[in-house]
Amino acid sequence: MATPFQSPRGTYDILPPDAPYWIFARQALKEEAESLGFQRIEVPVFEDIRLYERTTGETSEIVTKEMFGVTRASKDVEVEKEDRAVQLVLRPEFTPGIARAYLERGMQAFPQPVKLYTDGSVFRYSRPQKGRFRQFEQMNYEVIGDASPLADVAVITLTWNIFKRLSLFKELVVDINSLGDLKCRPKMRRVLLDFLSQNLTKLAPLDVERVRRNPFRVLDSKEPKTLVVVKKAPQLLDYLCDDCKKHFSQVLETLDELNIPYNLDPTLVRGLDYYTRTAFEVRRVDDETRQNAFGGGGRYDGLIELLGGRPTPGVGAALGTDRIIEAMKEQGVKLPDSKLADAFVVAIGEHAFKVTLPLVERLKAKDIRTGMTMTKNGLKEQLSMADRLGVRFVIIVGEREVRDKTAIVKDMDEGSQETVSFTGLENLIEKQLSR
Ligand code: HAM
Repeated sequence: MATPFQSPRGTYDILPPDAPYWIFARQALKEEAESLGFQRIEVPVFEDIRLYERTTGETSEIVTKEMFGVTRASKDVEVEKEDRAVQLVLRPEFTPGIARAYLERGMQAFPQPVKLYTDGSVFRYSRPQKGRFRQFEQMNYEVIGDASPLADVAVITLTWNIFKRLSLFKELVVDINSLGDLKCRPKMRRVLLDFLSQNLTKLAPLDVERVRRNPFRVLDSKEPKTLVVVKKAPQLLDYLCDDCKKHFSQVLETLDELNIPYNLDPTLVRGLDYYTRTAFEVRRVDDETRQNAFGGGGRYDGLIELLGGRPTPGVGAALGTDRIIEAMKEQGVKLPDSKLADAFVVAIGEHAFKVTLPLVERLKAKDIRTGMTMTKNGLKEQLSMADRLGVRFVIIVGEREVRDKTAIVKDMDEGSQETVSFTGLENLIEKQLSR
């Protein structure tokens, strides 16, 4: 049906046939993260713009081009005075909001490290295309307060475990690099700046501007002209200080031990300003320029301090749930059968609906997970709902059964069927379930 309204550019609706993929992916995050000791956190959808300027970075694409502002849109009402000084924006990522919450809610006083995970929508005003949306979903996790290389490995392992759970890991690889720290970064920057300045005319126009603002970002350029120059650029890894070198080699050694496939990529710099040392992205093996990365993350040892906390190391990652679901569908990943109920009551005719409602309540009181439609659906729809729930028992009550106060119980596992009185129903099902 035509409607004058369409969903805004770069957004989508998740319809019932796709919803199980989303539920499955979110559940995989929950189970994998919690099994490694991460706990759930939720942060606001909008925050003060200065939070992102200070952390994600004033030279990053996200902050310079991609943020959505939040303002009071009602006509004829003034913005309240205390709100006027604050420009709010929709979160373009989770990490700064989680770091703010860590400080604001006193998590520095908790036993360290604090391991947090979340998922939900983030917003970036970019040009919509395949795999790129303006509202999209991320699965995000952070380890705050642990400087050890093992924390980096924990984050990469969690990433890999999620992809394993979603049956996607076979075509994926982790690109990894080290960006150094405050000690070695200035030298890296100098060497890189020298090289790029000598090759300025060979760069794509977009990247000439980047040389001035943040030369590291040129290394991650997708522009074909720039890619040729970048191939000959000095390798950041050659300029790491001893501590950063040691940290990085311990990360790689442990990944080897865990059989997580990685590709050392000296051009990987990531588009956010807070990274130090380890940075990584997960991509399809054939997506060499990382146009459509499935996720990325890294260490951010200066972030908490940038927000006014005492020096505190951190490392984390975020996965793009939309791209993940799309890949699962393209590759025909089968979702495991989920048994959401044990029994389903099918009522035929209005009278039967009324009579069966108390039956459902009695079954539930015995902890037998029981479903029914409660709305006027035909027999076919009721049976297909029973199928969707994956129930073992289908309990059918028609006009005749109402008269006799009986129900037909079909045991789908055993392929058997029997008629029982209403009063004997719970006992029968309990008995069969315990067998
Ligand atoms: P990010 O690389 O900006 O990292 O985003 C992570 C993932 O989100 C990307 O790899 C991609 O899968 C997905 N993504 C990004 N933009 C879009 C888009 N426009 N449409 C669809 N999917 C998209 C971060 O956000 C960091 N906060 C990760 C992190 C956590 N680092 C440390 N902790």
